Amino acid sequence: MDSYIDLKNITAEELKHTDLDRVDIDCSPPDLEPQRQYYFMAKCRQIVKAQSERLGRPLYACIQTFGCQMNARDSEKLDGILEAAGFVRTADEQADFVIYNTCTVRENANNKVYGRLGYLHSLKNKNPDMRIALCGCMMQEPAVIEKLKKSYRFVNLVFGTHNIYKFAELLSQSLESDRMIVDVWEETDQIVEELPVERKFPFKSGVNIMFGCNNFCSYCIVPYVRGRERSREPKDILREIKRLAADGVVEVMLLGQNVNSYGKTFDPPVTFAELLQEVEKIDGIERIRFMTSHPKDLSDELIDVMRQSKKICRHLHLPLQSGSSRILQKMNRHYDQEQYLSLVEKVRTAMPDIAITTDLIVGFPGETEEDFLETMHVVKKVGFDSAFTFIYSKRTGTPAAQMEDQVPEETVKNRFDRLLKEVQEISALKAERLVGSVQKVLIESINDHDPSLVTGKLDNNSVVHLSGTAELIGKIVPVRITECRGFYYYGTL
Ligand code: SAH
Ligand code: SF4
Ligand code: F3S
Repeated sequence: MDSYIDLKNITAEELKHTDLDRVDIDCSPPDLEPQRQYYFMAKCRQIVKAQSERLGRPLYACIQTFGCQMNARDSEKLDGILEAAGFVRTADEQADFVIYNTCTVRENANNKVYGRLGYLHSLKNKNPDMRIALCGCMMQEPAVIEKLKKSYRFVNLVFGTHNIYKFAELLSQSLESDRMIVDVWEETDQIVEELPVERKFPFKSGVNIMFGCNNFCSYCIVPYVRGRERSREPKDILREIKRLAADGVVEVMLLGQNVNSYGKTFDPPVTFAELLQEVEKIDGIERIRFMTSHPKDLSDELIDVMRQSKKICRHLHLPLQSGSSRILQKMNRHYDQEQYLSLVEKVRTAMPDIAITTDLIVGFPGETEEDFLETMHVVKKVGFDSAFTFIYSKRTGTPAAQMEDQVPEETVKNRFDRLLKEVQEISALKAERLVGSVQKVLIESINDHDPSLVTGKLDNNSVVHLSGTAELIGKIVPVRITECRGFYYYGTL
């Protein structure tokens, strides 16, 4: 019989290739990360195996993700650990282990989770072995934890954003216990590398370049639930992307709440533009995207690097939030209307074909009709290729929640409808312009409704359908755009 492996003797890089069934789990767990987590993955594997033998079937696990790309990437990490633990993954919530990775950026994100927990409870009543876990941004709010402890006792495991790297350890505790385990940290300075990840797409991937946010926009809860800004070491990022490329990934999306402040805390500092240039050199990577870029510190260096790049997509997501300089100041955004407009002009002068998209908030406290018209003005003037429009949502603990003059619901609704209409009309006009042109398209999937078609994404992130077969998936091909249907295109190879 093969000898047992003591993880204390294995380097972080070797861990992913270690046979977890041979790991010695009778010894004490290593103190060092990520070795410690692999120990608990091995332990979970034994528990899952025993239970699955008892039931005579595999154990199923389901992850539901709410929120942004950061959360989507975190879910891939959770998925990697569930897979290592021996679960079979499913999209069906009638599973043995269900985990919700939550978002709390707006109140309705929270309400959705509470609503769906009711449904999960009914599933658990039918399958008492079922385990329910909650993690993500919403769990960082003390009021949420109080409520869960009081009224949602059927939840087995709760953890937050700072200790997600400890998921294997928490999972193993939870699988062996019937009490509700709650482990939420206020902060961390740890970034644990080399944990397993199970990607949703074989050909594209998000890559975290930084965590947290220091900007404290006055409406936003993210800095409170994601903690202070921490950049990942360039060498760790580049190593991850090289491995992704070797594994068939052609497109990476570099992720951070404000990528423009990447690397400022290093000694010597590294700029985001410098990082991009290094990523550009990696063979096999054909497309580079990033998200999100705060207008207040978008550098000339970045514009220049984008302009010269053959791989960075001609797309900039540049959240405006409001067009009124008065409101922007109250939002603590550190730019005004004029600065935003001149930034857009600078970007367009350097790259006339670039797509610019944005985020807009309607109904920030004290927003008057005039302020709103300023937003409409900027929307018309810039002509965004697309825009996400949000109704302001009051987040407890943020400065804006204390502000007077919260705008009446009726007024907000009315402004929101007007803004949405304007935004949609402009993006439809913008979209028309590509008809007749040839664009590079990354083919991502077979079309949901018509299997003779494939669906892909343009450089600017728009969707196009064209006739083709599964062999095209993961390839970047030239496509002639033949027809525009508002939010998507038809084309031919
Ligand atoms: N870091 C990114 C945004 C992350 S949150 C950035 O600064 O661009 C994504 C979007 O949600 C924000 O751009 C904002 O438009 C919106 N948002 C954040 N807090 C909100 C709130 N309290 N109410 C409504 N929309 C909000
Ligand atoms: Fe929120 Fe502002 Fe940070 Fe974006 S930059 S996450 S809007 S605080
Ligand atoms: Fe939501 Fe957290 Fe992202 S609050 S938007 S999931 S950082």
